[in-house]
Amino acid sequence: MATLGQIIFYSMVTLIILFMTVIILILALALTVGSLEVLSKDKMAIANLGEDALLSCYLNSDSQDARLKGVSVSWQKTGLTGLVYKYEDGAPKLSNQNSQFKGRTQLFPDALLLGNASLLLRRVRGSDAGEYSCSISSSAGGGKVDINLRTGAFSAPSFKFSNGVLTAEASRWLPKPNVTWSHYDGQVLSGITNFKENSAGIFSLVSTLQPVNVSQTYTCSIQNDLVTAVSTVTADSDVSGKTYFIYSAASMPFASTYLSIMTTVLCMYSIT
Ligand SMILES: *[C@@H]1O[C@H](CO)[C@@H](O)[C@H](O)[C@H]1NC(C)=O
Ligand SMILES: *[C@@H]1O[C@H](CO)[C@@H](O)[C@H](O)[C@H]1NC(C)=O
Ligand SMILES: *[C@@H]1O[C@H](CO)[C@@H](O)[C@H](O)[C@H]1NC(C)=O
Repeated sequence: MATLGQIIFYSMVTLIILFMTVIILILALALTVGSLEVLSKDKMAIANLGEDALLSCYLNSDSQDARLKGVSVSWQKTGLTGLVYKYEDGAPKLSNQNSQFKGRTQLFPDALLLGNASLLLRRVRGSDAGEYSCSISSSAGGGKVDINLRTGAFSAPSFKFSNGVLTAEASRWLPKPNVTWSHYDGQVLSGITNFKENSAGIFSLVSTLQPVNVSQTYTCSIQNDLVTAVSTVTADSDVSGKTYFIYSAASMPFASTYLSIMTTVLCMYSIT
């Protein structure tokens, strides 16, 4: 039972919160318009172990071919002593580079003059996973962006079909995935999957589906919490699968903050 006083009080609180939200939004908008920002095309990057990865970081500016002056870039990794990469006064400055990254990193000098400080990381290792920050400064302005890199292994399967048995073989997966087969009409089918772990802890798999109807099309999904490989394959003599990869976007702290603000506002409404 809410008294009139309580109703007025909670209404006021709700209104104040709403006004503050609006003001913050307006301020945020005013600050971003017309100023340079450092962005990344992929703030939740996923890299395949042993392969090269590009960590995207660039200064967005309206004038595409405006060459920047006095560009300096610093790539750092949370919890790491030393730097991942540094570029200053027109040259790499790698004396303070952590040995983990020695000989495995580079920027793109031509792109750099246009504000693109994306980092190429060669032969990705499990220990490369973590939080990176990329800072750019230039005569025109600068800023910083954080990038989370997750590492795993994933490879497209190859297919075989003989004696009514459809077989998928994939050589590199980490973490250990699960395999799901389905008929083209969506019906889930039960296949049998065997895994083998190599000395580096990476899994290979062989998954079989039977009985299979000749000339019908099946879907094979190999999934772990980083990547899903979806293959469509038709069961005939020249069996070949088409595979595409879906990269998972991990839950973002921003989304949950936004949710909790909304929940607070909603709760206040239901009290009043
Ligand atoms: C930055 O440069 C890299 C390497 O040339 C390129 O792959 C990437 O698309 C560029 N990013 C932007 C936003 O221009
Ligand atoms: C094979 O085809 C039959 C008839 O169309 C269907 O009922 C059955 O589910 C199919 N089996 C598989 C494994 O696709
Ligand atoms: C397969 O693995 C993913 C990621 O670990 C999980 O979300 C999903 O529920 C699993 N699916 C099955 C059928 O076990």
